[in-house]
Amino acid sequence: MIPRRVFVIGATGTIGQATVRALLRGGHEVVCFVRPRAGVGGRLLREDSARLFAGATVRVGDVSDAASLARDGFCGERFDVLVSCLASRTGTPKDAWAIDHRAHLLALGAAKVAGVTQVVLLSAICVQKPLLAFQHAKLAFEKALIESGLSYSIVRATAFFKSLSGQIERVKAGKPFLIFGDGRLTACKPISDDDLGEYLAGCIDDPSRHNRVLPIGGPGEAITPREQGERLFTLLGQPPRFKQVPVALLDTIIAVLGLLGRVLPPLADKAELARIGRYYATESMLVWDAAAGRYDAAATPSAGSDTLFDYYGRVVRGEASAERGDHAVF
Ligand SMILES: NC(=O)c1ccc[n+]([C@@H]2O[C@H](COP(=O)([O-])OP(=O)(O)OC[C@H]3O[C@@H](n4cnc5c(N)ncnc54)[C@H](OP(=O)(O)O)[C@@H]3O)[C@@H](O)[C@H]2O)c1
Repeated sequence: MIPRRVFVIGATGTIGQATVRALLRGGHEVVCFVRPRAGVGGRLLREDSARLFAGATVRVGDVSDAASLARDGFCGERFDVLVSCLASRTGTPKDAWAIDHRAHLLALGAAKVAGVTQVVLLSAICVQKPLLAFQHAKLAFEKALIESGLSYSIVRATAFFKSLSGQIERVKAGKPFLIFGDGRLTACKPISDDDLGEYLAGCIDDPSRHNRVLPIGGPGEAITPREQGERLFTLLGQPPRFKQVPVALLDTIIAVLGLLGRVLPPLADKAELARIGRYYATESMLVWDAAAGRYDAAATPSAGSDTLFDYYGRVVRGEASAERGDHAVF
């Protein structure tokens, strides 16, 4: 493996942090371009980011500003690879287009000037069936990257552990596990932060991942929400208790917020978040077989070794904490 100079955007996010750790383990020279106040709720100040990324160089600036990218980020130096785990933290249409699309275009332009020849992009498996603004924004950048002439690895990941851990606390508190329908409407192959970080970093040196769109999940069989709940109750030594929520409830919320959003713009954003919630309540995070009109767990590749249920065990025993980040609906 040849060590490369790697420029990372989105380093302070859940997968970004895991990816930087993997890049450093791989012996690469890593520069992370971060905001002055980064992380969930802007909790990380510059010095916190520097501590978090010990072994890497941390530079501070604005990824949505071409001048800042060039002046504060690339600094006129040469780089080999751009790695992006950058993504809108809110999922609202305006933020998604500003970050998942426009900021990425700016970073790609600045990277080319810096001599970058290879890009590794974290995307999401759900863009294969795009219904939401953030999915269209991601797809628009994927297309620009594919057409850029640079070598690319577009990693379309399945569900992250944090997105499947939101109910641990309520179940521990004796409340039922909430499911849509019978809890078997969807399934996913969850992937851990570190396994995904390792996979992203590994794209640099693996020619079989170059110039490819790569759907990727974690190890083992696909898991439904009902199975997640059942496992949690088993780990807690409690009898399973589920509360079924009809998908039609989400439809009503979307319709009402959509109407009100025409006069009150903040409610239009809330309507989009409800649409995102509905999407994940009804669509699986697995490879979509368009010809057969169904999701295909067997066709969804796996990487890594850490399972969601191992993670649940660690959280229940107090050995890990379930930080959900800003995406209450993801
Ligand atoms: N959640 C899931 O289950 C799931 C599944 C598959 C794919 N995905 C996709 O994976 C990607 C990354 O997810 P994640 O959970 O690691 O994301 P995350 O924790 O929300 O991190 C997002 C990163 O983007 C940066 N960012 C956002 N807005 C910014 C702005 N205006 N200016 C500068 N930086 C900004 C954040 O910086 P700050 O720290 O400064 O905010 C952070 O580094 C997303 O594209 C998501 O769609 C998610």
